[in-house]
Formats: sequence, structure tokens, C-alpha cells
Amino acid sequence: MKAALMSMGSKSSLMTLAAMKKYFGVVDDINIKNMEVMLGGKELSILYDGKPLQKYDCIYAKGSFRYAPLLRSITTAFYNDTYMPIKPNTFTIGHDKLLTQLALQYYNVPMPDTFVVSSIEAAKKILGDINYPVILKFPQGTQGKGVMFAESFAAASSMLDAIETLKNPFLIQEYVETEGSDIRAFVVGDKVVASYKRKAAAGEKRANIHAGGKGEVFVMDAYTKKIAVDTAKCIGAEICAVDMLETAKGPEVIEANVSPGLQGITEVTKIDVADKIGKYLYEKAKEFSEKGKKTETSKMFTDLGVGGTGKDTAEQQIITNLDFRSERILLPKIISNITKFDEKEDVVIKAKKGKIIVEKY
Ligand SMILES: Nc1ncnc2c1ncn2[C@@H]1O[C@H](COP(=O)(O)OP(=O)(O)O)[C@@H](O)[C@H]1O
Ligand SMILES: [Mg+2]
Repeated sequence: MKAALMSMGSKSSLMTLAAMKKYFGVVDDINIKNMEVMLGGKELSILYDGKPLQKYDCIYAKGSFRYAPLLRSITTAFYNDTYMPIKPNTFTIGHDKLLTQLALQYYNVPMPDTFVVSSIEAAKKILGDINYPVILKFPQGTQGKGVMFAESFAAASSMLDAIETLKNPFLIQEYVETEGSDIRAFVVGDKVVASYKRKAAAGEKRANIHAGGKGEVFVMDAYTKKIAVDTAKCIGAEICAVDMLETAKGPEVIEANVSPGLQGITEVTKIDVADKIGKYLYEKAKEFSEKGKKTETSKMFTDLGVGGTGKDTAEQQIITNLDFRSERILLPKIISNITKFDEKEDVVIKAKKGKIIVEKY
């Protein structure tokens, strides 16, 4: 099987590349800086070093927020016939803290109270009513650099005036007292494969390693692990790191990182996270290609609603992920077209582990 790692070539990416090579026959190391996306032709075309990108069984694409539009375009072009652990729109969601929180809100994942406003005046009004300290945050900041702490209204108000000159969107967030620590869960598939706690340097409130924070071993309870796995599912990432703050009420999610570093967590936990990723990608890619083969002769559709010819009586197959809304399964729109079920009609639902059949009564 053939895989590609599309990345910016960081140390963590090299670790991932080496691990993928243990499982896949061929792994191409693709630098996203040499990729181009062409729109406007008959189909979306992706070029690498000026030539069309070849077909892979698995593409693991990652990169900083600057590359989110490019990563989203590339993964969109290959999503239907290549296994990819990160969904196209996840690159946009994961690199924006507001979009991440919107996704979490939808599924009721716990997070700190957060406000989004359209003007500095509206922001100042909120700052007049809120408890201090308070956090102001740029939705696309990383490494702690877009996070500001204000101890008082006077401090927050002057920060807002400075923010206004940058014309940058921002969030106002409730400050969660954790003595400058946060916890990170590394999610691969539906498991937390490693976790650690980061403690901010003396006199600092941000726990980021880049802000001088130190990591230590931290064993997560089952509930915290579940919150982390739910977060990954909400944003559509099978591989990501979830940052949480520990509160008396339980963990609150502040961020999901779709291109997390591996060095810190590997050093602290002594867990070979890269190997877990390589192995997982291989197993999922194999599963994906086997499923594809089985349905090669039958019609394949996606929940985008493409295709859809075929006789009314013929059974049609769709390979897709299930869309969960507050634990309920939402079926793709094309299912309504194929089944021609009517809202008023009675149906029998037969379900067991791993299978559902819905039939006209
Ligand atoms: N609401 C909050 N309350 C208290 N501390 C916070 C809050 N949000 C962030 N922090 C601190 O700031 C750090 C960076 O915040 P985060 O939202 O993860 O942004 P970044 O993408 O820059 O890491 C966190 O690791 C945590 O230590
Ligand atoms: Mg963070």
C-alpha cells in the first residue's frame, strides 16, 4: 500500500514519516510548499512540483493555519477515494478557535464561556459585566501567542483598543483558574494514546511549551478521555491533540490541534506516539481499500449527492461516515432520494451492533 505524508517537514513530521514507513510499502514525503491547486477546469486538480499528484491509498495531510485553505482543497480533491484521517473542512475548523468552539457547542462538549462580538463597544459592554481576570484571544493564534490576560476592566479595555487597530477578530473568554496548567490528550482514532500536563513557567499563565511551560506525566480518567475523543469527532479529525483546562466541574476544552507536535509528548510520556499514528493509518487505509474493492461493481455515491442513476429496485451502496447529531444518526440526503420514504409512512428499524436496516412496514 502506498501512502503520502503532506507536511511542512518539521521534526514531528519526520518522526511520523519514519513510523509510516514501518507499515506502508511506500511512503512519499510531500512538502506542502510545493503543491498547487487549480480550480476552474473540469475538475479540481492538484499539482506537486508542477505535475498532477498521483493516487495514494492514504494521505495524511497536516500543516499550520497558513496552509489551511491549501490543505482543505487538496483533501477535498482526494476525499472520496483515498483514506485521509482529517476531513477537508476540519483544516478550517481546527485552525480557528471560534469555529472549533462552535462545533463543540453543537455537540455539548464542555468549554469555557466565550463571547464573540461585532464591535469594540459591544465588547466593552461585556467587559463591564464579567468577572476578572478575563481572557482575550485571537481565534488563529498558536503557541500561546494570541492569548491575552487582563486583570481588570482598565487592562482589558486598553487591550481592546490596541486590538481594534489590528482589525483582527477576537474572542472574550472566561478565565479558568488552573494555576497556569493545562492538560493535553493525544487522540488517535477513538483512543487517547498519550496524555500530559503542562505547567506554565513562574510568573506566566500560559502553559504552552513555547511560552516556557514544562510537561509532566498525567494519567487521564475515563471521562476526560471521552471528552477528548468527542472533541476529535466533533471537528472531524481522527488524529489530533486536545487541550483542556481542569475545573471543579470537570475538563473544559480550549483547543483542538490538527497538526500537533510529537516531540514534547513523546519525551514526557515515553510513548511512541508516531508509531501509534503509523499503525493506525495503515489499518484504516487497509480497511478503506478493502471496502472500496467490495463495492467497485456497485454504484457508489457520497453524501454530497453526486451520481444516483440506476434502477429503482437495485440496491445502491454509499460509503460515508455517519453524521451524529447529539447522539442521533443523521442519514445523508441521498438516502431520502433512493429510498423514497415518506415522512408519514411507518417503517421498521432493525438494529444490532454494527448494522441498521430500515424497511417499509
Ligand atoms: N480560558 C482560559 N483560562 C485560563 N487559561 C487559559 C484559557 N485559555 C487559554 N489559557 C492558557 O493559555 C494557553 C494557550 O491557550 P490556547 O487557547 O490553547 O491557545 P494556543 O493555540 O496559543 O495554545 C493555554 O495552554 C492555557 O495555559
Ligand atoms: Mg494550546
